[in-house]
Amino acid sequence: MTAPLLQVRCLRARYGKVPVLHNVDLDLADKSSLGIVGASGSGKTTLARVIAGLLPADAGQIIWRGQDITRLSRAARRDAAVAIAMVFQDPQSSLNPRMPIWQSVTEATILRGTRQGRAALRDQAASLLDLVSLPTAFVDRLPHALSGGQRQRVAIARALCAEPQLLILDEPTSALDLTVQAQVLELLAQLRADLGIASLFVTHDLHVVRRACDQILVLDDGRVVENGEMAAVLDAPTHDYSRRLVAATPSIGKAMDLDQFA
Ligand SMILES: Nc1ncnc2c1ncn2[C@@H]1O[C@H](COP(=O)(O)OP(=O)(O)O)[C@@H](O)[C@H]1O
Ligand SMILES: [Mg+2]
Repeated sequence: MTAPLLQVRCLRARYGKVPVLHNVDLDLADKSSLGIVGASGSGKTTLARVIAGLLPADAGQIIWRGQDITRLSRAARRDAAVAIAMVFQDPQSSLNPRMPIWQSVTEATILRGTRQGRAALRDQAASLLDLVSLPTAFVDRLPHALSGGQRQRVAIARALCAEPQLLILDEPTSALDLTVQAQVLELLAQLRADLGIASLFVTHDLHVVRRACDQILVLDDGRVVENGEMAAVLDAPTHDYSRRLVAATPSIGKAMDLDQFA
């Protein structure tokens, strides 16, 4: 049997002396999609950042294809072929306002120390923009010339440039209005089907996670209080917090036919 893509064991994290994550466990198989749900401040972003290697773990393990990567530097992660890319909530702050789109999008290639020149990088950026259904002519634009939804597509293209096997999305649609949110969710679903990339999808929105994921993990105050198949958890939440969450989200839960959201 081959090792699962990602295993997190007894993971703890803190800011200064304040513990934020308490013994978090999770498993992710290749090509699968896990939604991480919880109230504001429950530790979702912290968990995403620790797994992405942007924040150190306090204790516990992050295991990538059987290899413990908890304490590897970013360079060592690259050497170990850890293919994780992240998309943040606010594309405004994740894109350099002075950099043309092609340069932002191909950052992963540039960081690998490519010998490709500007023309080749612009070509690569154009195909990545095409992948996220943006006009290839956007390569020479600056971020401010794009709408919020277009900028988030650029951020997704930029993440795809790293050829990730795991995409971590932290509230990727929360800053967008509902129509644009639906379009970006549609794009993510399509990319998932076409490219077979696994994802960790952080959101506070049960509707979003229901559409985007097949597994769900509920965090409450830095602890995992629910973890399982989407339909099973939404149908019969066992923890008090998840019960309230499901109850507070109209049109989700036992009384409803979940297939209407499929
Ligand atoms: N940079 C930081 N420094 C100190 N405390 C932080 C920092 N970021 C988040 N926290 C605290 O950690 C807890 C979890 O935050 P976060 O992971 O951002 O939650 P979520 O993404 O679920 O809203 C909160 O209590 C928050 O106030
Ligand atoms: Mg957050």
